Amino acid sequence: MSTIPEAAAGQLGGRTIRRVVYSESDIATRVREMAEEITAAFEPHDQLLVVGLLKGSFIFLADLVRRIQRPLHVDFLVASSYGSGTVSSGDLQLLYNPQASLRDRSVVIVEDIIDSGHTLQRLIPLLREREPRSLEVCTLLHKRLVTLDPDARWVGFDAPSEFLVGYGLDHAEDFRHLPYIASL
Ligand code: IMP
Ligand code: MG
Repeated sequence: MSTIPEAAAGQLGGRTIRRVVYSESDIATRVREMAEEITAAFEPHDQLLVVGLLKGSFIFLADLVRRIQRPLHVDFLVASSYGSGTVSSGDLQLLYNPQASLRDRSVVIVEDIIDSGHTLQRLIPLLREREPRSLEVCTLLHKRLVTLDPDARWVGFDAPSEFLVGYGLDHAEDFRHLPYIASL
């Protein structure tokens, strides 16, 4: 387990990091394995489109796509729930829609973490309307609080039910830049 560089983590936002849950090398190893699994799942002629959900997936996606040995395109989506508070609820609003057409493409949605599952439960039907050839989810973390139908095909780690930050995940925008994943 790596030690926490206090200068980077410190007490951002008045919150202190409790423990490192996944170290940089844990993450690198798992991301490499996931990229190999995704590579094996597609043929070189598949029109692969990797769509990251912003902002949380930005570091994971950047590391993942560099290890996928298939031709692919990258786009991003911003999905945001209406309503207040930290509990995801209400309708899903697509703040940024990918420019790329999904029609007949093999689409992989990249998510940082599945918590309540509400985001994907609402997003997937909206994206299916655009008639992709296939639509599957790759998530770095899954808290396994829900079983989605269909569930994510690629899952990095079954995560503990704690609030996790780092490697793209934030708490009120703090901690996204940490190279490891920690709990608050
Ligand atoms: P869901 O719709 O409840 O599955 O929530 C998914 C989104 O909530 C993720 O993409 C994250 O942005 C955020 N989220 C859920 N749990 C955590 C956490 O433990 N740390 C940081 N963000 C989280
Ligand atoms: Mg977030």
